[in-house]
Amino acid sequence: MRILGIETSADDTGIALIDAHGSFGGYFKFEVLANLVTTQSELHAKYGGIYPNVAKSEHAKNLPLLLTEVLNEAEKKQKGRTNIDAIAVTMGPGLEPCLWTGITFAQEWAKKWNVPIVPVNHMEGHIIISALAENGGRQIQFPMLSLLISGGHTDLILSRKWMEYEYIGRTRDDAVGEAFDKVARMLGLPYPGGPHISRLAEEARQTDRHRMSVILPRPMLHKKNFDFSFAGLKTAVRRIVEGKGSVTEEFKKLVAQEFEDAVTDVLVDKTSRAIEECGARTLVVGGGVSANTEIRSRLAKACADIGVTLVLPPVELATDNALMIALAGYFRALKREFSNPEQLRAQGNLKLAEGTSSFT
Ligand code: KG4
Ligand code: ZN
Repeated sequence: MRILGIETSADDTGIALIDAHGSFGGYFKFEVLANLVTTQSELHAKYGGIYPNVAKSEHAKNLPLLLTEVLNEAEKKQKGRTNIDAIAVTMGPGLEPCLWTGITFAQEWAKKWNVPIVPVNHMEGHIIISALAENGGRQIQFPMLSLLISGGHTDLILSRKWMEYEYIGRTRDDAVGEAFDKVARMLGLPYPGGPHISRLAEEARQTDRHRMSVILPRPMLHKKNFDFSFAGLKTAVRRIVEGKGSVTEEFKKLVAQEFEDAVTDVLVDKTSRAIEECGARTLVVGGGVSANTEIRSRLAKACADIGVTLVLPPVELATDNALMIALAGYFRALKREFSNPEQLRAQGNLKLAEGTSSFT
């Protein structure tokens, strides 16, 4: 099945085309015919976060250009084959004006090509791409725990089979990526801040003398549940930064390291306890923050100690892309979860439904 994926939930415009065969558990194979993303980070940098109306018009501008490029690339790879069997599009969660741009574009092309539309939950896309990118998911054993860490989410989700989800923990306020971005802004670093904090923290780690001179809280660490909270941590950084007056490069590094350590301590501790309590055999990590080197290596150590398989996304596929939407859409299309194009609606707060379908 050749399936086109469209992603416009935040500030990245993505279109991908895959050719996939088979299903979970047995034979499964996919070829990426094209996977293109146009990121708008620079445009949003001056707002310190995503400005929905700017993002929306950028998506509208980028989508037709990306589609032409994707189709050309795919045609070259598959020697003139041009058919598309279905269009997968993100219906949520995300910024509704942005989601609508992708949905409208999908509707337009579904009509032109006379193909069905598969609505996709963005978070399922993150899980599926992490789980399947490396070797088609053959290393996954159930129960599988997913830790989703992105700009809008911090969720722990248990799956007893493919595409079934049970939330066991989530953030009560800010998402972890949002906290990275806000702390970066306080330190005068560009948006999105995660990679910048990570780079500074790495530099600080290489000079040991800086250790321990900034101390931040580890929110919810000793609470027995699996929920997270990062708003207090962000406020603690604000107080320290405002108390300091002049923010030197050395100070930025110290704050970045302590902030990254605090976030990592909480994520690793809660996730390890959740693995043990749920008897999970695999941990899948997804979302933009799973590109973070420190979080990846600390989770790797924790999983090795517990004896569970850790599955991380390739760094370049951790942040938003349309390949993850095409892949998740493929499995939803196998279940014939098509949508009536006229009834398709953006759902900014879409959750992964517990049970067999994401959308019931
Ligand atoms: O999944 P994603 O691309 O978009 C959403 O669905 O939200 O995640 C974006 C988030 C941003 O907050 C960004 O700062 C964060 O992922 N991020 C990182 C790193 N790379 C991206 N956070 C920490 N360390 C990184 N290396
Ligand atoms: Zn995302």
